Amino acid sequence: MKHYLSINDVDCLPGWVDEAIALKQNPYQFQKLGKHKTICLLFFNNSLRTRLSTQKAAMHLGMEVMVMNFGSEGWVLEYEDGTIMDQGTSEHIKEAAKVVSQYCDIVAIRAFAQLKDKEKDEAEQVLNGFAKFASIPVVNMESSIAHPLQALADAITLKEHETKSRPKVVLSWAPHPKALPHAVANSFVEMMKLQETDFVITHPKGYELNPEITARCTIEYNQQKALENADFVYVKNWSSYINYGQVLSKDLAWTMTREKLGNAKFMHCLPVRRNVVVEDAVLDGNQSLVVEQANNRTFSAQIVLKKILETL
Ligand code: CP
Repeated sequence: MKHYLSINDVDCLPGWVDEAIALKQNPYQFQKLGKHKTICLLFFNNSLRTRLSTQKAAMHLGMEVMVMNFGSEGWVLEYEDGTIMDQGTSEHIKEAAKVVSQYCDIVAIRAFAQLKDKEKDEAEQVLNGFAKFASIPVVNMESSIAHPLQALADAITLKEHETKSRPKVVLSWAPHPKALPHAVANSFVEMMKLQETDFVITHPKGYELNPEITARCTIEYNQQKALENADFVYVKNWSSYINYGQVLSKDLAWTMTREKLGNAKFMHCLPVRRNVVVEDAVLDGNQSLVVEQANNRTFSAQIVLKKILETL
C-alpha cells in the first residue's frame, strides 16, 4: 500500500480489523519495524484524538514523530499550476511536499473541507497535492471528504461489540449549530458498504450525502422508523451536500435521546456537543462506546502505519 487516503485502500477489512484487535493485546510487538523511521503529522486544522492517537500508534511501532500545525505555523501554500505568486500564497505545494519528503518516511495530513466550493473541496487540493508531489506515503488524518482512520476505528469498535453476525447499524443525522463537513459520515458509509450488516441512514430531507457514496444504501427519512431494532446507532451532524455547506435545520427533534436509543449501543466520533447532538444521559450511560472508539483510533492508525512500514 503506497498511501492511505480512503477506507477503500483497505484490501481486506475483516482481516485488518482482526489484526488491529490483536495489536491491541500487544501494542509494542512490532517496535523494530519503525526503528529509524520518522512520521511527520501536518495539521491544517484542530485535533485532539487524531493528533494524540496517531502519535501514540507511531510510538508503539518505534517511530520518531514530528508534528506541525501547518495551518497556523506553515507558509500559505499555492496549489494552482502556473500561478504568478504575487498575492497571498508564499510556497507552492510542489516544493512543500518534496521538501517534507526529505525529512520523514511517512507524512500524515489533516485538511478539512472549506464548505464554500464543492468542486474545490472534492478536488482534495491539500491531500491529493501531497500524494502527487511527495515521494513518500501519505496518510489521510481527515480530508475534505474522508476520514478513513476514524472509519477503521469504528469498524474495530463494531466488531468488538457485535453480538450477532448481521447487526442492524443506523447512521443518524443530528442537529448542530455550525456547518460541519461530510468526511466522517462519508467514510462511515463507505466502511459499512465493505461489510455484511443491515445498514440504514436517516436524516431530514435536504441532508442527502453524495449519492455516489450512498449508492445501494437504505435511506429512511423517518428517524423513529429507522431506529427500530437497531443494535448500533452512529450519530453525526453534517451540513447539506445538495445546498453545499448550508445548515438547513437545527431541529432538536433529531437529537439522540436515551428513549430513542432503546437497547442499541451509541457511537460518535467526537468531539460532540452535549444536549444538542446527544443528551447527557446517553453519553453518561453504559451504552455509549465513544471513549472506546477514541481508544481504537490508536489501533486503526497503528495497523495502517504497520502496513505502510512493511513496504518501505
Ligand atoms: N474524531 C476525531 O477525528 O477527533 P479529532 O478531531 O479531535 O482529531
